[in-house]
Amino acid sequence: MEIVNNPAQMRQMAQEWRAAGQKIALVPTMGYFHAGHLSLMRYGREAAHQLVVSLFVNPAQFGPHEDLDRYPRDLERDSSMAREVGVDVLYTPLAEAMYPQGYQTYVTVEGLSRGLCGASRPGHFRGVATVVLKLLNQVQPHLAVFGEKDYQQLQVIRRLVKDLDVPVEIVGRPIVREEDGLAMSSRNTYLSPEERAAALCLFRAIKAARELVLSGAKSRESVLEAVKGMISATPHTNIDYVALVDPETLEEVAMIQDEARLALAVWVGKTRLIDNTLLSESRLCCV
Ligand code: PAF
Repeated sequence: MEIVNNPAQMRQMAQEWRAAGQKIALVPTMGYFHAGHLSLMRYGREAAHQLVVSLFVNPAQFGPHEDLDRYPRDLERDSSMAREVGVDVLYTPLAEAMYPQGYQTYVTVEGLSRGLCGASRPGHFRGVATVVLKLLNQVQPHLAVFGEKDYQQLQVIRRLVKDLDVPVEIVGRPIVREEDGLAMSSRNTYLSPEERAAALCLFRAIKAARELVLSGAKSRESVLEAVKGMISATPHTNIDYVALVDPETLEEVAMIQDEARLALAVWVGKTRLIDNTLLSESRLCCV
């Protein structure tokens, strides 16, 4: 596995692979790998000749009072995990190379970025869309793989590549969970033992919502009331939002007609966790 941190070198390698007819997969990450990242990498490994994993803690997607400085980082650990999965290139550009002096260009995906996490993290998706477009230009992948835990991010990126005619396939992969159901996240490392126990309420609420819908509940009120009730009853938690949305437009829906996405963001202590699931009238979806 090669570690590359120069965007020009990365682009040169990608051009050579393409000229040789090789298929390239990109898994964009901010590092501190867990089983969720590894499952995206394994997918990319199977799907392409060359697998590039980018590792860049993108300052443009963090607000002024967010956790950019304390975001977990461990390049040595990440490198050995990536090597084990068979990654070809770990691409680790520096912030100075991504946003050199004089940098002025940002991409905004208007409607999809506004609600849910976009409402409480203004500018977040502008930072995500910008860095993802830059990474796609640098790595020139045929496919790019993202996790469904960041469901709004996935929809924003799908829209971005569609609207800007970026020739790449965007692949969304299912959420990977701890054995007890907590969605894998690098931010789980912030949780104290009490908070870790409390964090399980997100998955419990998701399971309860799925059962409710399967038993015939269709209205937004009934689902949200049950979910909010379960979370509010758990110590150390504070709800940022709980929403029932159309899976594609992310607009709020009043009733579940066939399918809807339940999305939640909850503060557990000082850590903001997100989770989501597809709610279906007719089938028990995997979460
Ligand atoms: O999901 C993430 O880790 C980041 O938002 C991404 C897509 C790598 C962009 O910085």
